Amino acid sequence: MSDLFRKKPISMFEADMKKSELKRILGKWGLTSLGIGAIIGGGIFTLTGIAAHDYAGPALALSFVIAGIGCLFASLCYAEFASVLPVEGSAYAYAYGTVGELFAWFIGWNLILEYMMGATTVAVAWSGYFVKLLHLFHIDFPIWLCNDMVTATEKCAQMGLPAPDWAFNLPAFLITWLVTMILVKGIKEAASTNNIIVIIKIAVVLFVIIVGAFYINTDNWTPFIPAEVTTIGEDGKEIVSFGFGGVLTAATIVFFAYIGFDAVSTQAGEAINPKKDVPFAIVASLVVCTILYILVSLVLTGMVKYDQLDKAAPVASAFSGIGLNWAVFLITIAATAGLTSVMLVMMLGQTRIFLGMAKDGLLPRGMFASLHPKFKTPYKSTLLIGLIISVVASVTPIDKVSEMCSMGTLLAFAMVCVAVMILRYKRPDLERPYKTPAVYLIGTLGVSFNLFLMYFVRAETWFFFLIWGGLGIIVYFLYSKRNSNLNKLESKNE
Ligand code: ALA
Repeated sequence: MSDLFRKKPISMFEADMKKSELKRILGKWGLTSLGIGAIIGGGIFTLTGIAAHDYAGPALALSFVIAGIGCLFASLCYAEFASVLPVEGSAYAYAYGTVGELFAWFIGWNLILEYMMGATTVAVAWSGYFVKLLHLFHIDFPIWLCNDMVTATEKCAQMGLPAPDWAFNLPAFLITWLVTMILVKGIKEAASTNNIIVIIKIAVVLFVIIVGAFYINTDNWTPFIPAEVTTIGEDGKEIVSFGFGGVLTAATIVFFAYIGFDAVSTQAGEAINPKKDVPFAIVASLVVCTILYILVSLVLTGMVKYDQLDKAAPVASAFSGIGLNWAVFLITIAATAGLTSVMLVMMLGQTRIFLGMAKDGLLPRGMFASLHPKFKTPYKSTLLIGLIISVVASVTPIDKVSEMCSMGTLLAFAMVCVAVMILRYKRPDLERPYKTPAVYLIGTLGVSFNLFLMYFVRAETWFFFLIWGGLGIIVYFLYSKRNSNLNKLESKNE
């Protein structure tokens, strides 16, 4: 039993860091750029529509504030950990050093949901924007070639067309392979591609805020929180829209928009000065995006009355509504490029977490830890996740994957908040280049907030989440527990 709680000593993490073969080329701003690259994406460009239209109204900005504060608690905890343990495994590694092996495994298992399902969600969103972009050039993809079967059938029904015999999301498949190939070639290429995309993305978000501000009609902001409405959904459950309940539901939806700041911590192995720069980049990227998100929400709901916001492409549509068609073109291009950079960082993060787990013996080393002789990248695991993401993204509806992503992330965030408090209590002596302020308060608030949001996720998602968790436990007992480096060390010492 005690081996389920065996912890990896901090000295072993330090030894691993010294042995790391990854190239250390990322500075403070390169890391921050990676963070912003992972954060701004499908959340702000798509989910704002449904969140404001159906749940929060003009108070969408308030939903972003609520979700942002919660993420800030988690980010401050992540930052302390990253300064103590600047290793690839992120939350997985933090749990391994503090709570114990089984918990760490479980977190790693959930991070697969965050990173792989996150990248899958974004691949599907990318396909949507790409198809829109082609449409601007009068090129139209057949419905069956840019959607999964469920979505294609729904769209055909809406248009009065017969259901297709089969459907495959080709753009989602192709973009996944493009990103996979960039990642196999190396972080340097990935980082410079990412920097360019991040600049374009921030420029367009600033453009939306500044130009959009001239078209705000303050009447659209009243009432700021529309009166609560309760309806019965298809599954027979009550749906609360608007009022404070609606604002909270919208916060759970826009939570997806913040996912990604923690991806910075997975790049510690490639950072030049990880103990200082990783904590800085985690908090800086989150703060920058929170401010941008709040401003975009105010502008959007000021430009268009919330009940007339487009749910699929709210930002682009707000500008077509005022006749700025060239702006629609610009925003669509930026969204397409922006989503690519989110995928890049998510997939990069996933391979680094696998790398951390494989180095500890919890996953097969040959598959997840062997680096390419020339590029020094974990190419085999990159190709494997490329294969999985491309197939899942081609055949699965977006809402199913995005909710699984949020669920895994919320649990990982809550665990990190717990673990940072445990480490502070048990090892107050450790050198901490960055310390979470008022750690017990911030940690407790972080745990409470993330568990509170998990409570609001749909029952169906909980069901799949529990199956996924069960599967993880089986793999742990069949493979990881036996092959763990710590297990081998213990057997040797006996
Ligand atoms: N935060 C990322 C997005 O909005 C996952 O796409």
